[in-house]
Amino acid sequence: MNTFDLQMDFRVVFKDQAQESTAGLLGQMGAQRVLLVTDAGIQGAGLDQAYREALAAQGIEVAVFNDVEPNPTTANVEAGLALAKEFKPQALLGIGGGSVLDCAKAINILLNRGGKMSDYAGPQQGGAALLPLVAAPTTAGTGSEVSPFLLISDSETHAKIVCKDWQAIPKVAVLDPSLSLTLPPMATLFAGLDALVHGFEAYVAKGSQPYTQALALKSIGLVYQNLPKVMETPSDVEARGNMLLASNLAGMAFALSYLGLSHSLANALTKMKGTPHGLAVGMMLGAVIRFNAPVCGADYEHIARYLLGEGCPAEQQAACLALADAVEKMAHSLGMPKNLGELEFQESQIPELVEEALRQATIQFNPRTPTAEELTTLLESCF
Ligand SMILES: [Fe+2]
Repeated sequence: MNTFDLQMDFRVVFKDQAQESTAGLLGQMGAQRVLLVTDAGIQGAGLDQAYREALAAQGIEVAVFNDVEPNPTTANVEAGLALAKEFKPQALLGIGGGSVLDCAKAINILLNRGGKMSDYAGPQQGGAALLPLVAAPTTAGTGSEVSPFLLISDSETHAKIVCKDWQAIPKVAVLDPSLSLTLPPMATLFAGLDALVHGFEAYVAKGSQPYTQALALKSIGLVYQNLPKVMETPSDVEARGNMLLASNLAGMAFALSYLGLSHSLANALTKMKGTPHGLAVGMMLGAVIRFNAPVCGADYEHIARYLLGEGCPAEQQAACLALADAVEKMAHSLGMPKNLGELEFQESQIPELVEEALRQATIQFNPRTPTAEELTTLLESCF
């Protein structure tokens, strides 16, 4: 039995064209000065326009920080912090993908607690109160809008600083499908695969419990049904909304139970060749399900029956294999490469990948603890 202490202290607004509701909420919070954190791409696409107009209509003054790079750096955070110190906001609004939302969380921490980002590596407890942060994701993948994690790269050493702070979770998550309609196809696919893998890993992780499994199962079902729809019709508001919900549910789930082996292996792929995160985790999912099946077959069987219905084989291990095949088939049909060779990896690189994967923190939460030999066999199956 896994014991747990569940406390969720945030609000989720699910609404298309949610700019007026969002401005209204910020007004109710007493915020007359709001720092908008976003990036140049979001601004170039005009996605923040309606939100800025709604804030102006409420008499709320806005300063914009739009200099967040993908995989945000300590330099990005410091630049946003300098603007925040000058502008003295009463709340922050993040509009963007996981990078923007992580950067907004980091600015909030440094603004209210001082110091530098490296002071906040690892799990945090206590500390001064933060400003209310409202987070509107433009991608459906990371779940950063409901997670205590933030990931910032050190500009000098390039090391990743992973901070986990429950107080950094945004006070309000705004799931507004209109913000994700113009996300390009590959970015949509990679984000969707990330959300799918978050659901799978949260469901079977060593720290899973009934709440994480309920959230994760719903999330997996939503991705399985809606990722093909948004790839076929990017302007499908309902399917985009369902993907935002899926990412959000999975974000809540993995914040509570953490992740697993797909993320450990994917981080090794990303470190070696810069493979985009969502693509990397998606490439690993099928092989990880097959590897984990002997120890968490009942969990995978449950997911398999939920996704495949009457098409699910009766016997447990056959159901697990059918599940791995089904998620891979779906991802391949949407453009995910079929093997690591297509991503220009070579089998001679397996030992290096195994070494890196074994160093990842996520591996300790995987339901089956792999040896180096087992990871080698697993990666060989991906060529
Ligand atoms: Fe992920």
